[in-house]
Amino acid sequence: MSATAGASALQAVIAAGGPELGGLMAEVEDRLARLATGHGAELARYGGDTISAGGKRLRPLLVCLAAGDAVVDRALLVRAAAAIELIHAASLVHDDVLDRSPERRGRPTVVAAGGPTMALATGDLLFSRAFAELVPSGSVEAVRILSRASSALVTGELMQRADAYRTDVSLERYLERCRLKTAVLFRAACELGVLAAGGPPPSLGEFGEAIGVAFQILDDVLDVSGPPERTGKPRGTDLLDGTVTLPFVLARERDPELAALDLRTVRGTEKAAAVCDRIAASGALELCRERGWAMVDAAKGLLRDIDRRRATVLALVADGVVERYA
Ligand code: FPP
Ligand code: MG
Repeated sequence: MSATAGASALQAVIAAGGPELGGLMAEVEDRLARLATGHGAELARYGGDTISAGGKRLRPLLVCLAAGDAVVDRALLVRAAAAIELIHAASLVHDDVLDRSPERRGRPTVVAAGGPTMALATGDLLFSRAFAELVPSGSVEAVRILSRASSALVTGELMQRADAYRTDVSLERYLERCRLKTAVLFRAACELGVLAAGGPPPSLGEFGEAIGVAFQILDDVLDVSGPPERTGKPRGTDLLDGTVTLPFVLARERDPELAALDLRTVRGTEKAAAVCDRIAASGALELCRERGWAMVDAAKGLLRDIDRRRATVLALVADGVVERYA
């Protein structure tokens, strides 16, 4: 999703959430803007650029929405929302090192601009600042939630590396990878919001996890469908680094030529784009979108016990996860 499309979708959700939500998100942005400073000019530059590069702020938004109107600890809420975005940003900076990605969100990655040492240091700084954000709250539970989600990210990433170039990735294993590398952080966002509201968790953690898996499935669709002007990266980057995702798994079942394809022979963006066209022609992208919508519908069903206004806005966020590809 382009920064502009992401920002306008976010504005629509914030407008539906009312002035309080807008105020909270502005506070989160303010905190994020200050977090990379105080550790030298280079880290301030690369860390600051990473944070200001855009992004939909979907995870902080989930923290604020999960808390609802009954916030008992506003400082924890704002800091937890900033912390979750920092973990997300740290993981992307490190991911770009592993993937050797030249661009993200239409800009050079930290690894491309500053080299691997600087990228690892920037990711480490953002990661450590995330936990530092939680210190003033004194909430052990908040640290536990964030730590568990960070560990899941790492496990999911390693699982993806272990699966590289394998054509026997099952649907179950793919979904578990999505859960670990993406959805557990969405769950954590919802759980942190509920924690700041002082309430016992309703089903919001489960809601977060379901829309997180849908988000990753649709992210994998976008890697195939593009267009690059919208995604900020060429089509087929997953194929080029051997990442077997749902569109490819389903397309292989429908197209014998794709079933026989060894991903190691796919080299260069032109070849990758041609394979993407073939995956799209198989009808696999529609099947992935349908699965995404089904997960989002199931997630919305978990909002029954939440007050009407909040449920409406959370449902908008859930729809946004799949609509960005419509
Ligand atoms: C992006 O997904 C990457 C992730 C969701 C997780 C990356 C996790 C790590 C590198 C482990 C390190 C974690 C921490 C906490 C520092 P993608 O590769 O599918 O999407 P992309 O196309 O945006 O790269
Ligand atoms: Mg990646």
